[in-house]
Amino acid sequence: MKTVRVNASAPYDVVIGRGILDRADDLIPSDGAKKAAVISDDTVFPLYGERVVSSLEKKGLDVVSFTFPHGERSKNGKTFLDILEFFASRSLSRSDIAIALGGGVVGDIAGFTAATYLRGIRYAQIPTTLLSAVDSSVGGKCAIDLETGKNLAGAFHQPSAVVCDPDTLGTLPPEVFSEGCAEALKYGIITSPELFSHINEKGIDFDREYVISECVSIKADIVRRDEFDLGERALLNLGHTFGHGVERASGFGISHGAAVAIGISTVARGAEKLGISEKGTSDAIASALEKLSLPVACPPGLDVEAAFEAMTHDKKRRGETTTVVIPEKIGKCKLVPMNKEELTGLMKAGL
Ligand code: NAD
Ligand code: GLY
Repeated sequence: MKTVRVNASAPYDVVIGRGILDRADDLIPSDGAKKAAVISDDTVFPLYGERVVSSLEKKGLDVVSFTFPHGERSKNGKTFLDILEFFASRSLSRSDIAIALGGGVVGDIAGFTAATYLRGIRYAQIPTTLLSAVDSSVGGKCAIDLETGKNLAGAFHQPSAVVCDPDTLGTLPPEVFSEGCAEALKYGIITSPELFSHINEKGIDFDREYVISECVSIKADIVRRDEFDLGERALLNLGHTFGHGVERASGFGISHGAAVAIGISTVARGAEKLGISEKGTSDAIASALEKLSLPVACPPGLDVEAAFEAMTHDKKRRGETTTVVIPEKIGKCKLVPMNKEELTGLMKAGL
């Protein structure tokens, strides 16, 4: 079992260990709480809900649960309000706790409801996808999608604990597991050649406990220095600028992780062609992504112009500029503010 401390404004531990799902009672601090509300989706709750509920009941908590249909389409205002009404109808008080059991969709929406119900109650994250284990469960960003775009309403609300049991990844569909690999490899590209080499050598058979704890440690360091995303935290968006454009242009037919893989490969190729990054970097990245069964280029038929258009309207834009994460070499990235023409030129060079 490994523990990573996240020294954010409200510090907490991320505990990673096989089989710890049944230890939610002692790993999630809930002093003063009488009730726990488990929020999950209709795929994850039948798989793992009972284990979490019985563990919390061992502590004497009155446990209630709310599940919603799985998938990104549920990460919306309706589900958000339904969960708030659920909390209110079960009389959750300020001292009670919400538990997010699931992938990034569950974590994001449960976090946002916890941030807003009674102006903020505690919550804990129990991630069950690789993506949520290495990224979304840590760092306190939570959001819902609006009709106009992804994650447009949200908050920074740190969880009071993250309990990650890598055994839960065993039931993931292979493509969902692969999508999380793109985010894991991202940490290697931005700061750690060792992590990159480990994933590159092992492919999908990498050591899950090691990789998750390395990714979480890297994220914890970045969040400690830039919790509110005013600078360095943008490094975590490697591949996301063009990736979000691709996701959008495909009508969300291309999943988040696959789009991020396309985004990372495209920016790496573009940067190398324009002489910004070390020779060989983009080939190393593409080869590692391919071993993880991830795409490294836009599929034929994708409306690339629409992807460019969506990219330049991304929420990460400030005024007329977008800060782009450029891989200079494996383990080192830099942030470069670009205007629309520069950004489109870079990505076109990488197509
Ligand atoms: P997801 O939560 O939709 O999970 C993917 C699918 O896997 C779902 O159908 C889910 O029911 C299923 N699933 C989850 N765990 C399972 C398990 N153990 N066994 C079998 N099936 C399981 O998607 P995701 O990829 O985890 O997360 C994507 C979301 O995360 C996006 O909305 C994205 O915006 C968000 N995100 C947030 C942050 C952040 O910092 N807050 C960071 C990255 C991504
Ligand atoms: N997933 C990006 C961040 O947490 O900032």
